[in-house]
Amino acid sequence: MEHKLAVDEYCVMGNPVEHSKSPWIHARFAQLTGQTLHYGKRMVPLDGFAASLHAFIASANGFARGCNVTVPFKFEAFALAQHASARATLARAANTLSFSDDGIHADNTDGLGLVRDIELNAGVKLAGRNLLLLGAGGAAAGVLGPLLHTGAAGITVANRSLAKAQELVQRHAALATLTHTALLACALADVQGSFDVVINATSTSLSGESVQLPSGVLRRGALAYDLMYGPAAQGFLDWAHARGAQSRDGLGMLVEQAAEAFFIWRGVRPPSAQVLQELRAL
Ligand code: ATR
Repeated sequence: MEHKLAVDEYCVMGNPVEHSKSPWIHARFAQLTGQTLHYGKRMVPLDGFAASLHAFIASANGFARGCNVTVPFKFEAFALAQHASARATLARAANTLSFSDDGIHADNTDGLGLVRDIELNAGVKLAGRNLLLLGAGGAAAGVLGPLLHTGAAGITVANRSLAKAQELVQRHAALATLTHTALLACALADVQGSFDVVINATSTSLSGESVQLPSGVLRRGALAYDLMYGPAAQGFLDWAHARGAQSRDGLGMLVEQAAEAFFIWRGVRPPSAQVLQELRAL
């Protein structure tokens, strides 16, 4: 149903989107920070992102302020924006759009959401650590820039197809030089050594497959993190748990990326740790 009230309008756009937790999270953020807004969800046909975005803006009678974008539209969202933040440009993907008189602004809060969840909520500092990032698709591209900014000593991007890992690493090479991070690409089948943090950004969990990794890849006390949450993350987390690692799903990343989007839109930081706790208890 279209919302015609004179309140600032936001939504999440995706396909699928029906089970998205973003409307709940943003409504809770608004409640806890005393902000007045409405945040809905919009199912977008696979070939209709631009049309759906403009329909959303038109339906809000001048009150559309922004939206979140989820799979599979993050690349398209970035491409159609008139302005983009540095982190969205590096990712070539956007999960947060803001609308203003000078057009659509693209940002990407996924990576910062991941870093905040690992460092603040899980209490694992990334500076000086060795990280293994599995995957080189959209999800991996969205987090690599912010991971480099943590001061990690090394990040290895391992992907099934080596060429995609190399391309992603190449695109981040200048940033890695600035942050003094040893950034390497390798094929998933050739991963060697052991790591403090292993992040699963492949889409294997969705298809019920699993990533094949050598058993020594997890250093003692390592953190294994899956960007997915719920049943999709379980296979990878069980694998890691069985090898003595700490394991964590991406629910905290979801809340933290939302908190950063909320901050971009409203200029107020919501109590994300509290909202994550509430969400886990639902
Ligand atoms: P997303 O936006 O979720 O990242 P994507 O851009 O299609 O989706 O990327 C999917 C990622 O999961 C890729 O890194 C892909 O590896 P390839 O580039 O080699 O295709 C990875 N992936 C998917 N299925 C996989 C599998 N069975 N084993 C290992 N990696 C897999």
